[in-house]
Amino acid sequence: MTINSLAILGAGGHGKVIADAALFGGCRELVFFDDAWPAKQDNGNWPVVGDWSALLERHRDYEGVIVAIGANDVRMAKQIALREAGVPLATVIHPLAAVSPFAALGAGSVAFAGAVVNPDARTGDGVIINSGAVVEHDCRLGDWVHISPRACLGGNVTVEEGAWVGIGAVVKQGVTVGRGAIVGAGAAVVSDVPPGATVMGVPAR
Ligand SMILES: CC(C)(COP(=O)(O)OP(=O)(O)OC[C@H]1O[C@@H](n2cnc3c(N)ncnc32)[C@H](O)[C@@H]1OP(=O)(O)O)[C@@H](O)C(=O)NCCC(=O)NCCS
Repeated sequence: MTINSLAILGAGGHGKVIADAALFGGCRELVFFDDAWPAKQDNGNWPVVGDWSALLERHRDYEGVIVAIGANDVRMAKQIALREAGVPLATVIHPLAAVSPFAALGAGSVAFAGAVVNPDARTGDGVIINSGAVVEHDCRLGDWVHISPRACLGGNVTVEEGAWVGIGAVVKQGVTVGRGAIVGAGAAVVSDVPPGATVMGVPAR
């Protein structure tokens, strides 16, 4: 579904990729809000037009609002604050992401170019499925999870709330990555990761 106008909270690199995905999908008006405004007036190709309070005042001017903050805990806090303020959150899917019609992404989630999300995969809110990441069939991703570029989750993987799977990591089918855990870049996860743990390497420890 095309979002015609989008307000993005967080004028950084992740926001640029969300902007690009939205534009590719036909969005015509794109602005950023960031607490660095008014010192920060643009985010590369796009204007920064206000701060957090301005977004709360003006969100109805835009068809969609999305939080573009890579840190899972900060994204969670901002998204909860927007929800409590009654601001509906947009979901942005790049047209070159292959998201199955039988998969479901939660509010405020993104899937970037080259991502694959296969049937019966489900995510919570505010989830990042980054460029080229693969989320196989029947995966379950909690709120505020980040699957980094080129990471690959086999079928029936569970990634609990706030966990982060690093660039190019692979997670064997059926494994659970616990709440708030971190999987290092390039890791091969072959057994469950306890909540809050950081694992890395091949096999991941
Ligand atoms: C795993 C990770 C979180 C560890 O970060 P950290 O705690 O700051 O670790 P450090 O950089 O201090 O490194 C500590 C040790 O772990 C090693 N290490 C770090 N990351 C590693 C990884 N992904 N795989 C294997 N070893 C790793 C370092 O070489 C270092 O080893 P040494 O003590 O023998 O010198 C981080 O390196 C990582 O992989 N983050 C994911 C990045 C990513 O995917 N970004 C996506 C952005 S979209």
